Amino acid sequence: MSLSTAETPILPPLPFTPEVEARTAHLYDRMQATVPPTDWRRFAPELDAIQRLKRERNAIVLAHNYQTPEIYHGVADIVGDSLALARKAVATDADVIVMAGVHFMAETSKVLCPDKTVLIPDLRAGCSLASSITGADVRAIKAKHPGLPVITYVNTTADVKAETDICCTSANAVQVVESAAREWGVDKVILIPDEYLARNVARQTSIGIVAWKGRCEVHERFTAEDIADMRAAYPGAEVLAHPECPTEVIEASDFTGSTAAMADYVTQRKPRKVVLITECSMADNVAVDAPATEFVRPCNLCPHMKRITLQGILDSLRFDRFEVTGDEAVAERARAAVQRMIDLPPPSQPARYDLTLARRPVDVELI
Ligand code: 13P
Ligand code: SF4
Repeated sequence: MSLSTAETPILPPLPFTPEVEARTAHLYDRMQATVPPTDWRRFAPELDAIQRLKRERNAIVLAHNYQTPEIYHGVADIVGDSLALARKAVATDADVIVMAGVHFMAETSKVLCPDKTVLIPDLRAGCSLASSITGADVRAIKAKHPGLPVITYVNTTADVKAETDICCTSANAVQVVESAAREWGVDKVILIPDEYLARNVARQTSIGIVAWKGRCEVHERFTAEDIADMRAAYPGAEVLAHPECPTEVIEASDFTGSTAAMADYVTQRKPRKVVLITECSMADNVAVDAPATEFVRPCNLCPHMKRITLQGILDSLRFDRFEVTGDEAVAERARAAVQRMIDLPPPSQPARYDLTLARRPVDVELI
């Protein structure tokens, strides 16, 4: 799918007036622990203008859990993990969706909502997993493994989804693998492109997995040694890790789940001290609803998520930039794969990964 690149004028910064201050004060309450007053005076006029434009245009902002607090708490109408954002995009009656996330998330919204205007504020907000594989690669894998269902992580382009039988996210990957194996009557599936997600899923199921060598550039950097160092430096801290991390990291952690599952763990179980082994804005956002928990904050930033700024969201709404468009025939095939995932019964809780459940030696064939 392509994105339009309209020329846009550069406008002077908006002023922080007493009226702006009064209209936005309630928003500052939720972010003052992480946003200093000097930044707030710059953010508040942009937040105020975004709120007004959203009303005028019947627009909503969907924000992934890795967005910075001024976006997550200040302008987002819907926040969540990839699964929640996909599900909620379909349910909205807004005319315009601004994706405060990365390109594959905006593209998934457009695939699901072809009649809506879908905008992404920065064209450079990519993803190392999405760029690790092409539609041609998937066709080659299918030719090598005819008859196996193809499951792709939503962190992929529409071209890749179009070659797919069903999508998954980290919140439902085990459920999707098992339901596809049942439906196809096979004991092996193709689960691409995240090698580590595939290995971590393989430890949860007796279904064999054909995997690809894609990696998340943020989560692949964590090591078991990092976990040991953090446990030594912060005794008693509970360690929560995302399933895009290497398996040795998952084994060394206390809990593994999607970004939403990690947030739920903290707000429901209220650990005294916690380390989130994932993108670092997560801790800032979750901390607001977990005042009794102390967060240890290792900081691995996702450079793609960090391309999204308040100024970018404002310009997106002002100038319709950058609109996600694409080939409807590709989108239609991609839609079937995403819709099949959405049609599965929603998990009562985002799935947790429990590597002690491993039922047999892990069967992963890496392409
Ligand atoms: P979640 O689906 O867990 O939000 O993960 C998306 C992502 O890009 C993690 O790196
Ligand atoms: Fe992609 Fe990793 Fe960034 Fe998520 S954190 S968007 S998987 S590069």
